[in-house]
Amino acid sequence: MSSAIVLPRVMQVGAGASSEVASILSKFNCEKPLIVTDQMMKQLGYVERIELPLKEQGINCGLFADCLPEPTDESIMAGVAMIEEGDYDSIIALGGGSPIDSAKAISILGKFGGAMRDYRVPRDVSETGLPIIAIPTTAGTGSEATRFTIITDANSDEKMLCAGLGFMPVAALVDYELTLSLPARVTADTGIDALTHAMEAYVSRKANAYSDSQALQAMALIAPNLRRVYHEPDNRKAREAMMLGATLAGVAFSNASVALVHGMSRPIGAHFHVPHGLSNAMLLPAITEYSIEAASERYADCARAMTVAEPADSDAVANEKLLTELKAINKELEVPGFAEYGIEKERFFSLLELMAEQALASGSPNNNPRQPSKEEMVSLYTKIWEQQ
Ligand SMILES: [Fe+2]
Repeated sequence: MSSAIVLPRVMQVGAGASSEVASILSKFNCEKPLIVTDQMMKQLGYVERIELPLKEQGINCGLFADCLPEPTDESIMAGVAMIEEGDYDSIIALGGGSPIDSAKAISILGKFGGAMRDYRVPRDVSETGLPIIAIPTTAGTGSEATRFTIITDANSDEKMLCAGLGFMPVAALVDYELTLSLPARVTADTGIDALTHAMEAYVSRKANAYSDSQALQAMALIAPNLRRVYHEPDNRKAREAMMLGATLAGVAFSNASVALVHGMSRPIGAHFHVPHGLSNAMLLPAITEYSIEAASERYADCARAMTVAEPADSDAVANEKLLTELKAINKELEVPGFAEYGIEKERFFSLLELMAEQALASGSPNNNPRQPSKEEMVSLYTKIWEQQ
């Protein structure tokens, strides 16, 4: 059996990679890019940092800096209008997962029209939109190297998963220096998101030899450095390892899919506006505990790759160590429980059935080694609330 592997055409990786944006644009014969980003990137001077080397080469960019965290189909429409009305030939996506996901949607909608709802799974979006050069500033969502975008339906609060070659950036500029000034909370949330990508890709029913190799290496890079970057933001070696690990984790899950943690996490993000990485972190230990019996060898490999278990440990011992480590990471990185975060108990319990339905509809739970029914997901949400 073979697997189709999809990657960006160029990955520029390492210190200063983002300053290569002009030469990357010229490789693709692009002369008029629209920068898609958010206000924070503008305020922190990141936009200027990307624009300057372009101006020096005589390239003037358009700017759409109104991307929202957890983007909705409404929030991207002003960017779509800019593509429709301007004569842009490319998009530079700058920021965390939200601007990159927004840019992917703007690229397709700007060229082909329609509503984002039309492009959600199970449709395979293979149309070629405007070429995207993705510059991630977190380590991270891995969106710079995935064929996915997540856009929330503003009416129903459903997080719509959209997939296909059309959402794969042509180039990813993976520059860990952009993460040196990230606040601790964002560092922790996006770092645990990346770890979750690697673990879920490795235990996914769609895992393959290629995605396994990327996932194991991602775990080896991320796990020993997660605490370091949280406590020592200026640790360049640790930041570099996290950035590379996050991109490899993106490659892994783009080619193997995520599973139950992401499936159950998206509705929490949509209904209670919990940042994506944080809602994953809240779920990761309990969902791993639930899933482990169906893939104990695979989870033991995760523990060994993360170097929390010895190579000689039995699978059972490695699995115990993995669960202990995931709980310890959450404690040390101060991941709150649902109630502690401010989620109202009554509303949470009134939405359980709907959240379980939405998780199932995304398709991600079907990739999990242990596939839960809707009722089991309701029980899992309940158990996690009670444990915290
Ligand atoms: Fe994620």
